Amino acid sequence: MMEEVKVVLYGVGAVGELIARFLLEKQGVKIVGAVDVAEDKVGKDLGVVLGLNKKLGIIVSKDAASALSNVGADVVIHTTTSYLRETYPQIVSIVKRRANVISTCEELSYPYYSEPKLAEKLDALAKKHGVTILGTGINPGFLMDTLVITLTAVCQKIEKIEVMRVLNAATRRLSFQKKIGVGLTVEEFKEKIACKQITGHVGLEQSIAMIADALSWKLDVIKAEAVQPVIANKTVENNLVKVEAGKVSGLRQTVRGLIEGREIIRLDFQAYIDAKEEYDAITIQGVPTVKQKIQPCIHGDMGTVAIVVNSIPKVLKAPAGLLTMKDLPVPSAALGDLRNHVSTLKQSDSK
Ligand SMILES: NC(=O)c1ccc[n+]([C@@H]2O[C@H](COP(=O)([O-])OP(=O)(O)OC[C@H]3O[C@@H](n4cnc5c(N)ncnc54)[C@H](OP(=O)(O)O)[C@@H]3O)[C@@H](O)[C@H]2O)c1
Repeated sequence: MMEEVKVVLYGVGAVGELIARFLLEKQGVKIVGAVDVAEDKVGKDLGVVLGLNKKLGIIVSKDAASALSNVGADVVIHTTTSYLRETYPQIVSIVKRRANVISTCEELSYPYYSEPKLAEKLDALAKKHGVTILGTGINPGFLMDTLVITLTAVCQKIEKIEVMRVLNAATRRLSFQKKIGVGLTVEEFKEKIACKQITGHVGLEQSIAMIADALSWKLDVIKAEAVQPVIANKTVENNLVKVEAGKVSGLRQTVRGLIEGREIIRLDFQAYIDAKEEYDAITIQGVPTVKQKIQPCIHGDMGTVAIVVNSIPKVLKAPAGLLTMKDLPVPSAALGDLRNHVSTLKQSDSK
């Protein structure tokens, strides 16, 4: 049997930690390095950082170059920040060490929208070094783009696409709740959104651009409406936070893709405490019309961990370059020993 797939974690925050835990319980894969800049993690054993009762012999380093040298990483799982300008030098440093990259950076899920020049450079660099770069996650990466694109496969004609994700923020971690403004006054919310102190959900524009590209729709514009606070109409409380009536319990974001003033793609993201109904709904108006509702909605962290790890075999077998989810084979779970999926793909490839 082939060697275990060697993984370096670049970012051991909330998502990186969950990915590490999942990798540790999975066969056929080995964590061989970890990078993070957080003071409470640097210099510590990864097992300690994860709160395990054992050391793993991997020291979290703030120096990516040293963490990546001499470990022969097949793939780096990158989970640091949302914006490509910030992550660009990090991705470059990985590619130069000839490791494949799977990143949760939202803008990297479809970088041709906001950062086409950086995307071109990354594509050229990845090809030069013979590796693949992929941005993915639950959203962007799957629910409001890849899944939508997949469903269009049964349509002869399409008039319009509408996607809604509604989730109860009470079931999500505190950092997510902070990101969507839970507990703020409306004025504080507006100020923090305006000065980008809180980001809300990042990636709706990228999802629309990816759908449009898959359908060869030339959009005139992608319009993001002002992020709207959702106001608690009664005091709501969970184990993490208490939101008084009149304060912000979350947000609603809508982004639209238009051709000649006509809206043809609409993505609507809502996340707030106490949302009564949680779902992911896709409506494709066309021939035939396709309606799909996943209820309750897929849990963001669990889904992200899964799609990142499930993408490893596909990325290892993919051609070199910067790819998006729409360029890879149909997404699927890589159950059991990860090596089986790599070798299965290799056999079918060699036919
Ligand atoms: N596409 C998707 O569906 C999806 C899903 C989940 C998350 N995400 C995105 O993935 C990213 C990670 O999420 P998270 O919740 O894990 O965030 P997080 O908890 O903030 O973790 C990020 C970690 O990376 C560290 N870091 C920041 N800059 C670094 C650098 N230059 N080098 C090394 N480490 C660095 C951070 O340290 P400090 O805390 O000291 O800065 C932190 O420990 C976020 O941008 C998030 O929005 C995307």
